[in-house]
Amino acid sequence: MSTIAVTGSASGIGAAVCLRLEAAGHTLIRVDRVNADIEADLSTPEGRQLAVTQTLKLCNNKLDAVVCCAGVGVTAPSSGLIASVNYFGVTEYIDGLQDTLAQSGTGNAVIIGSVAASSQVANPHAIAAAMLENDEAKACQIAEACQAPHIVYAASKYAATVYGRRTAVSWGKQGMRLNIIAPGAVETPLHQASMDDPRFGEAVKNFVAPLGRAGLPDEIAAGVEFLVSDQARFINGTVLFIDGGMDAMIRADQF
Ligand code: NAI
Repeated sequence: MSTIAVTGSASGIGAAVCLRLEAAGHTLIRVDRVNADIEADLSTPEGRQLAVTQTLKLCNNKLDAVVCCAGVGVTAPSSGLIASVNYFGVTEYIDGLQDTLAQSGTGNAVIIGSVAASSQVANPHAIAAAMLENDEAKACQIAEACQAPHIVYAASKYAATVYGRRTAVSWGKQGMRLNIIAPGAVETPLHQASMDDPRFGEAVKNFVAPLGRAGLPDEIAAGVEFLVSDQARFINGTVLFIDGGMDAMIRADQF
């Protein structure tokens, strides 16, 4: 059985991931702002450093996998927060743990991205470019000026996906893997908040996947359980859409 760190463990997809992995017998290290083994704010460099240091301490320098679920949506208090949590809260946490993951022999990571990453607004966008240059101040500055949280959100998920795929290439040489799950709409507090928002509610409600419903958190967790497992040992750098067919609907002729 593995030792697995999960961010965003207190709610929604992250909580479902923890339930599933724990039921399978894995040892978990839960990271969130509150109600977690490690309470850390992944929106700040200090919080990310605390999360890394505490994770290394709790796992006793033996870590098999990292699952990054923590994220904020379009109703976040500021667009800079979307950039900081959804991109830098993922990359700095994974980067900080990669040496320890490498010692596992089968170390791997899963990033929860989004189907929004493949939308037209995300790529190529100046916010995503600043993120990929690792320039948080610039990314946040452009994000705040942009005044369109849905564009910042899509750009953050696009950049996190590109980071994941680039990292998968370099990790592969050490036998390590990194994969991305791109959920469509999933019934969580984040999704409910966007449906309740007067700016985005109608668009979110009308954006329905071909399967005709939103997903359940455990349907995303099932994908995570598979990707961290030995059954997925030859899967690296992939983007697994768990979206009821939404990506196929948006861009049926591209893949
Ligand atoms: P949620 O709001 O239920 O859970 C997100 C968790 O992340 C919360 O426990 C929250 O405390 C934590 N978090 C947020 N900011 C943090 C910070 N600064 N430091 C530490 N933890 C922080 O949301 P949900 O829906 O479970 O989202 C999980 C991931 O799935 C997110 O990355 C989201 O972007 C992604 N996603 C969600 C979709 C949906 O429809 N629910 C669709 C596509 C992607």
